[in-house]
Amino acid sequence: MNRSDTQSVTSEGHSDQLRADALHVAIIMDGNGRWAKQRHLPRALGHRAGVEALRRVVKSAPKMGINHLTVYAFSTENWRRPLTEVQDLMGLLRAFIKSDLKTLHENGVRVKILGFLDSLSSEILGSIQEAEALTKDNQEFNLNVALNYGSQQDITRVVKFLAQKVEKSEISVDDIDQDTITRSLMTSDLPPVDLLIRTSGESRLSNFLLWELAYAEILIQDVLWPDYDDTHLSQALESFAQRERRFGGLNAQSFRWPA
Ligand code: FPP
Repeated sequence: MNRSDTQSVTSEGHSDQLRADALHVAIIMDGNGRWAKQRHLPRALGHRAGVEALRRVVKSAPKMGINHLTVYAFSTENWRRPLTEVQDLMGLLRAFIKSDLKTLHENGVRVKILGFLDSLSSEILGSIQEAEALTKDNQEFNLNVALNYGSQQDITRVVKFLAQKVEKSEISVDDIDQDTITRSLMTSDLPPVDLLIRTSGESRLSNFLLWELAYAEILIQDVLWPDYDDTHLSQALESFAQRERRFGGLNAQSFRWPA
């Protein structure tokens, strides 16, 4: 059910506050390269510092009322980067799983990787399967990592999948609606995104969650990802709390912050 359907509207025209423990925040973690360049360091060290920032955010997000965090770690377009950088990013994900999986699991974090996983190496796939299997029943917090992910490619995959079903007369064209598509995307078991954050001041979607962001609020923060900390996250939620969300209707919803 769309969250807008679950809210009642008060006499002032405002709905009840959104439950503060059910937010889905997505982040385009941008600026690792520039952070490294400013320090005359190799880009790899920028990505490494980016992992530290991710650790900080994963630690604070549940305390701030976030239930789902979806981060963009590697896009289908990132293969255009030099091979060493691609290997470094993949290596960082493996190292992150190896070093942090136990703690994530102890803290009730469910880890899910979104993306075209077939083309990844068997080592990465093994780490992903281990992380997902170990944490699949956790319910405190959801960390979704988009890896080799591209939203246009995912939508194209769904179109082909549904077209094949029509071709085989398993469904009719009229059976296809927004819900059918939503349920066929890689993100099918995630709630709609409430807030998209992009760091480093850039304002692009970069092929991230194009369908899923339909009613998300968008916030561009002028901070390079490796510098991101609790203050930036709480500023983001403060800004989100100022927004009135109407989901195309007239009744406004807002998020209470601090909860
Ligand atoms: C964008 O910065 C960032 C990425 C392409 C990768 C993000 C990855 C991490 C933060 C670390 C790996 C993630 C996990 C889950 C372990 P950029 O390199 O495009 O920066 P620039 O625009 O300043 O060059």
